[in-house]
Order: sequence, then structure tokens, then C-alpha cells
Amino acid sequence: MHAATPRPHSRIRRAALCALAATLAASACGGSDGVVDSTGSGGPGNTGTPPSAPWTWELPAGFAPPRVPTDNPMNAAKVELGRQLFFDTRLSGNGTLACASCHAPERAFAENRALGRGSTGQNHPRNTPTLINAAYQVTLDWANPAPRTLEQQMRTPLFGTNPIEMGVNDDNREQIIERLRTHAEYPGRFAAAFAGEAAPLHWDNIIKAIAAFERTLVSAGSRWDQARAGQITLEPAEQRGEQLFFGTQALCAQCHGGPNLGGAFVDSTQRVGEPAFHNIGLFNIGGSGAYPAPNRGLLEFTGRAEDMGRFRAPSLRNVELTAPYFHDGSVATLEGALDIHAAGGRDMGPGLYAGDGRRNPFKDPLIDRIRIDALDKADLIAFLKTLSDTGVARNPRFADPAVN
Ligand code: HEC
Ligand code: HEC
Repeated sequence: MHAATPRPHSRIRRAALCALAATLAASACGGSDGVVDSTGSGGPGNTGTPPSAPWTWELPAGFAPPRVPTDNPMNAAKVELGRQLFFDTRLSGNGTLACASCHAPERAFAENRALGRGSTGQNHPRNTPTLINAAYQVTLDWANPAPRTLEQQMRTPLFGTNPIEMGVNDDNREQIIERLRTHAEYPGRFAAAFAGEAAPLHWDNIIKAIAAFERTLVSAGSRWDQARAGQITLEPAEQRGEQLFFGTQALCAQCHGGPNLGGAFVDSTQRVGEPAFHNIGLFNIGGSGAYPAPNRGLLEFTGRAEDMGRFRAPSLRNVELTAPYFHDGSVATLEGALDIHAAGGRDMGPGLYAGDGRRNPFKDPLIDRIRIDALDKADLIAFLKTLSDTGVARNPRFADPAVN
């Protein structure tokens, strides 16, 4: 039931995997989403564009390359272009916002606002998630089952109108291209990244370049990773927290599993598993089980009653850096987030959203089986803090090229 997250380091040969997928009619072999090429540097599915330079992954120990769509092979010029675009406010309709405005490197590519604020000042209804290792998520966003690639996901922040994020629309789409076309460096960079294309400066290639950059945001340099590699020893409280996290009493890893300590994970050597979404009892408006729209989770996309309040378990890597917590940023501290898990949900008391989330009829039954006392919570928090990867903010490959 909760085994949707594949084992961390399972290695299945791709040929065997495709044969298996064929019999199961599953799409692990470049099906509808056009994925995958394990090296990422071209291959039979390549569009014919020769890469500017061969791509070499710089990955932490134990990480295989992420999946790469066959029509967007990696190359060094493309990644560098994507990095520049990711940090560039020219890419928003009114020129005020960049992807990095909400996904900030010093916050593990998340931010400390409860809700993201778009280019026109409108609040996003949801909290900004980290982009570290996002290339390995089976689905993207808090509860949307549809986007399976970073390219697919990006249409929402760029072109979405409810809420407005980057605010690119029919009125300013060409104007933004013009901003890039008249820039000293961009035309040459697009030509290098998409060699062989006569007119490479267009939106599809903007998306491809940024996605290629996002795929390089792989990092696993936390103290926990160092301890697993035998380089350091964690403090006793941190070790107790780790055992609790992966054990049967706290059950955390049942939902926050795999190398990302998050929802379903897949790399280029693995078969794509089913994504999982859970209601952890944050709301129960009027006792009906309802969460407030437009944050009703998976139900917003499937329309199915039982999907009320179901969200992807977020990656807990760097969680100390990405407060506040939950899909709506409604909880300020790790203590608060754990208290809710330990209590089996959140009683909203009186007010707009009155209702006892602990009794939410759509709640994942696992939540009520979590057994942790005050000491366990302290140990778990000590462990969660070992997941902070200070290398992310220091990595020059992830930094704003303007200041780099
Ligand atoms: C206004 C703030 C804001 C801006 C600007 C923004 N994002 Fe996001 N991003 C968010 C929020 C909020 C979510 C969660 C959306 C949801 O679940 O509905 C998100 C989700 C994502 C995800 C999914 C991550 C995961 O683990 O599922 C990716 C990838 C992403 N954004 C990339 C980008 C890119 C690329 C850009 C620039 C083109 C961008 N974002 C601009 C706020 C922002
Ligand atoms: C039944 C699945 C499940 C179990 C078990 C579970 N969680 Fe969660 N957790 C979730 C989901 C889903 C969310 C996001 C909920 C939302 O925003 O609506 C979440 C959110 C969190 C957050 C907030 C992270 C953020 O970035 O917003 C923390 C911290 C957390 N969990 C820690 C834990 C710990 C520690 C345990 C073990 C005691 C645990 N979880 C057990 C499903 C689970």
C-alpha cells in the first residue's frame, strides 16, 4: 500500500525493464512522456542536434543519473543557458521575477515565505518546494498527478494564470523573446545549446534549457550522507532519530522514503513506480473531511471524493532550511509539523476552517499508527537537521551566474 517509493538503490537493467514494462503495458521505456535515456547525452531518440559538448554527470555517491527526455539531451551549453535563464527576471511578463525569486539557492531552491508570491503580487495558494533532486520525483508539484517531466511542469509557472507566477501571456510572450534576442549573450548561447537549429530562440527551447539546468540540481552532501559514507559519526540523539525515522514506531520512511526521503523516486535505471498521495488530517471542515479549495490536494485533479486532502509526501532533505511547512505553509516549525503527525492530524478549533482534522474520514490510516513521545520528537528533529546540505548554497554550478 505504501510501497510506492522504489527501494533506494535498486538497479534493474534497462532491457529487462522494458521487456517487463511491455508485458505489464506500463510506460517505462519512453512512453507518453518521451523519457528516457540513461546517459542523457543523446541516443537514438535524439532530434539530430549534436550536443555542444559531451555531458558528464557530477553526481553524489549512490545516485544514478535522473531520467532525461529523449528530445532534450543534456549538453554543457544548454545547462549553462538554463542556469542563466533560471536566475533572469527578463523571463517574467513584467520583468520583476525569476524562477530563483521563489526557488532560492540559499534556501535549497525553496523559500521562507508561507506562500509563493507571483510577478503581479498575487499569492500562490501553496508553499514553494525545494528543487534539489526534483528531477527524480515521479510526479511534480504538491498533488498534481499529471506532470512527469520538468518540461511539462514548467508550463505552469511560466504560463499559468491562476495563480500568476512568471506571468507570461499572449500579450508579452513575443516581447520576452525580444528581450533575449537583443541581449548581448543570449543569441549566441541559444545557438551553442541548440546547435543545428536555424532559429533556436523560442519558448520550447527556453523550457528545455531550464529543465536541463534543473536536472543538474542533484545534491546529497548532508551530514546524514556523510555518516552513511562512513566519513563522520552522528551524535547519539541524531542516531536515535534516524532509527526512529526508518523504524516501525514512527513510520516516517513509509511515506518519506527513498534517497530523497520523500514521495515516489525514480532514476534512469529504474522502472517508474506509482506515485503516492496522503491525507494526514490537516483539515476537516465541518466534519465532512473537506480541505479548503483550491488546496484540496489530489481531488482538485481527479475529482474523486476519496482524494480529498491527499498530497505528495515532500522530500525532507534540507527541511530545516525550507520552513514554513506543509502545502499551505501553515506550520512555522519542525516541532509543529511533528506534533501534527504525532497527534494524528490537526484540530483547527473554531473559525473559518473549524473541524478536527484528526477525524478526517479520508486520512491515511498510517498516521494513527505513529507512536512518538516528546523525547522521540526531539531525536527525530535532531535527525531531520542532519539532512541539511550546506553544499547547495556554496556550489558554484548552482549559483546565479550574474554574481558568479
Ligand atoms: C511565485 C513563486 C514561484 C515562481 C516564480 C516559480 N515557482 Fe516553481 N513552484 C512554486 C510553487 C508554489 C510550487 C508548488 C506548486 C504546486 O504544487 O501547485 C512550485 C513547484 C515547482 C516545481 C515542482 C517541484 C517538485 O518537487 O514537485 C518545479 C520543478 C518548479 N516549481 C520549477 C520552477 C521553474 C523552472 C520556474 C521558473 C520558470 C518556477 N518554478 C517559478 C513557486 C514558484
Ligand atoms: C502517511 C504518510 C506519512 C507518514 C507516515 C509521515 N508523513 Fe510527514 N508528511 C506526509 C505528507 C503527505 C506531508 C505533506 C502534507 C501536506 O502538506 O498536506 C508531510 C509533511 C511532513 C513535513 C513537512 C515538510 C515540508 O516541507 O512541508 C515534515 C517535517 C514531515 N512530514 C515529517 C515526518 C516525520 C518526521 C514522520 C515520522 C514521524 C512523518 N513525516 C510521517 C506524509 C507522511
